[in-house]
Amino acid sequence: MINFKNVNEEKLSLIAKKLASLLFKGSIVLLYGDLGSGKTTFTRYLVEGLGGDAYQVTSPTFTIVNEYDARLKVYHVDLFRLESEEVEEFPLQEYVEGEGVCVIEWPEKMEFYKPESFFMVKLEFVEELRRNVEVEGVGKKYEEILRRGEFFDKI
Ligand SMILES: Nc1ncnc2c1ncn2[C@@H]1O[C@H](COP(=O)(O)OP(=O)(O)OP(=O)(O)O)[C@@H](O)[C@H]1O
Ligand SMILES: [Mg+2]
Repeated sequence: MINFKNVNEEKLSLIAKKLASLLFKGSIVLLYGDLGSGKTTFTRYLVEGLGGDAYQVTSPTFTIVNEYDARLKVYHVDLFRLESEEVEEFPLQEYVEGEGVCVIEWPEKMEFYKPESFFMVKLEFVEELRRNVEVEGVGKKYEEILRRGEFFDKI
């Protein structure tokens, strides 16, 4: 697990772009953190890191899923607004097991279906312009990718 304390948005963008460089077809990123902690912002920099258009990245709170074209296709899912029955009906598995990168805000809501391995990013509000960021690889493949992470040492 890699911890970053009190990062400003510029540093958050570097973390997201490093993570973007580690993503592969079908990879999953679960974004944990309270309202306003920076999940959508993190996704914006992740998409930019994948060579996509950062301006296309908006909160999918109402659309539930946005798709972006980049080096890899990105499915940006936000489960915040869904009731648990709706989460059950939502074709999450299609996105999670698809060819693209699947980024999920509010993964706490995935009671019915949860992938076994993924990158986990936790964002914690410290003060208006500062966040604590935790990046972890869950499952062997993701753990190993992150361990090759001299990537993150230079941030
Ligand atoms: N260090 C920082 N890291 C992340 N965001 C920051 C930072 N400093 C300021 N911000 C601002 O905080 C806001 C975070 O909002 P954002 O929509 O990304 O949060 P969210 O976690 O997606 O919220 P929600 O749960 O409502 O979807 C943005 O306006 C962003 O510019
Ligand atoms: Mg959001």
